[in-house]
Amino acid sequence: MCGITGYYGNKNMGKYLYNSLKRLDYRGYDSAGIATLNNGKINIKKDTGEVEQINQKHNLEKTDGKIGVGHTRWSTHGSTTKQNAHPHLSCDERFAIAHNGIIENWKDLKSQLNGHRYTSETDSEVIAHYIEEKSKEMSVEEAVKKFFKEAKGSLAVVLLDSKEEKMYAFKRGSPLALGIGNDETFLGSDLYAFSTETDKAIFFEDDEYGIIDQTGYVIKNINGEEVEKEPENFDWDQEEAGKEGYEHYMRKEIGEIPQAVERLENSLNSAQEKQVDRFVELIKNHEKILFTASGTSYHASLMGVYFLNKADIEAQTLIASEFKNYERVDEDTLVIAISQSGETKDVLDAMEYSRKEGADIASIINVPYSSVERESDVSLRIMAGQEVCVAATKTFINQIYTLLKIANKLGYQNHLEEIPKRIEKVIEKNEPKIKQLAKELKNKNDIYIIGRGDTYPIAREIALKLKEIPYIHAEGMMGGELKHGTLALIEEDVPVISLIPEKNSEIISNVKEIEARNAKSIKISPWTGPFKFPNSNSKFPFYTIIIGFLLSYWIANEKNLPIDRPRNLSKSITVS
Ligand code: G6P
Repeated sequence: MCGITGYYGNKNMGKYLYNSLKRLDYRGYDSAGIATLNNGKINIKKDTGEVEQINQKHNLEKTDGKIGVGHTRWSTHGSTTKQNAHPHLSCDERFAIAHNGIIENWKDLKSQLNGHRYTSETDSEVIAHYIEEKSKEMSVEEAVKKFFKEAKGSLAVVLLDSKEEKMYAFKRGSPLALGIGNDETFLGSDLYAFSTETDKAIFFEDDEYGIIDQTGYVIKNINGEEVEKEPENFDWDQEEAGKEGYEHYMRKEIGEIPQAVERLENSLNSAQEKQVDRFVELIKNHEKILFTASGTSYHASLMGVYFLNKADIEAQTLIASEFKNYERVDEDTLVIAISQSGETKDVLDAMEYSRKEGADIASIINVPYSSVERESDVSLRIMAGQEVCVAATKTFINQIYTLLKIANKLGYQNHLEEIPKRIEKVIEKNEPKIKQLAKELKNKNDIYIIGRGDTYPIAREIALKLKEIPYIHAEGMMGGELKHGTLALIEEDVPVISLIPEKNSEIISNVKEIEARNAKSIKISPWTGPFKFPNSNSKFPFYTIIIGFLLSYWIANEKNLPIDRPRNLSKSITVS
């Protein structure tokens, strides 16, 4: 799962591809590369590491050419090596390809081709050799169509043909967009690839392909029939994502939370008011409400279940990758998909399954024009702006704020106005103590976090952050479940963080169980423990997760880890 980019035009090619890859590297940062066409010859520069490092080594910015493709990789098939980095070349070096997705039948396709020399262990390389082989007997376009028909799995591919001086782009499953400029054409996995250059785009649907040459572009379906597609003008008020004096994006993005919440509140009350009403109506009009999401967004969906429950509406949630195995849906079901990127393949698969069974689909996304948004009956944007750090922080808060707002409209009485200001105070008042605690926890191997009710999802989210950023094994649990097994692991000095909104006897008994085993008991609470909070139980989840975000951040900082780009992860996972 990766990011791809392509460009046909007169810009400084190397500079454009380099900048575009930097904007896409949240999709994968194991390796990156570019292929450019200059004087009839394809020139490849690729390596392992992040785009900026590769640029320093190979001077990507100083590369000429009229047509170019680029790729940033999150390894799936084949380890992280220079050979496995994209773009890949055909044997005769006529074609270069960049691919996002997984070609499930790559071995079968490979077995059809004789005498080809492969230089990587990837599933993707077969595309270049296949097109080379088949284009000996048919046109390149026919070869592309044939590949498209025979390939199984998910693919977004950009193919550079050095002989005809064209780019071909084709997609099934993985996302692909085409940007339209003045005498220039852009390709990208998403709008981030080219949104600094144009605000006009076309989104490929599954089984469509495009041919890009000096006359512009044409889009066709898999049978070769031209498809008329109206370009969309995207007015996407993006924040320019610089670090603005912070050492890491993660800390900068935590600091942006109050503004992000305010922006969301305004938008939900004005520009998105109609969508909010529609969303609420859909919930009212369906018998069964099922959330689905992955990672951090799944924890937001757990909050959604809790909030709807408070509004007297029964709902459930399930991790997207297991949705079809555990949930039965029908036309009386509303599926609510939550996804920051709007491109998570597991979520899109759960939506596709639900759609086939007749369900209606609502969604909550951050990235405008994303696939989840486009596949939904109604979609709300959380207006968090671009989040660069892989770990979601401001987007999680805006997801749960949106859910609380919806629950409010459905009858869960709750005042939201003070949230942004109070979050600001929570950061200000507690960060010095968090830094201190980070020093005490940095060498721990395991941390347990317990919560009940609306702090249970927060306990899960804190645990996820502790795994992702400081690489500490952590478990977020329901307080009541601790005694049913996990207590066996609690011994002297093992850190257990308890989330205690009020003097609630149930969670207090759990804390006693921990303390009786001499664990290192850390209480996050407005009335006990080291931290200070505004006195609001119902908004406690918003404040307590801020402590969790900052704690993960400062432990990782103590350990000198790559906070914004943790090992093995990627912000947007577009494979199943
Ligand atoms: C990846 C990211 C997680 C994220 C999850 C879901 O695994 O590393 O941080 O929570 O995807 O992403 P989504 O864009 O669907 O919210």
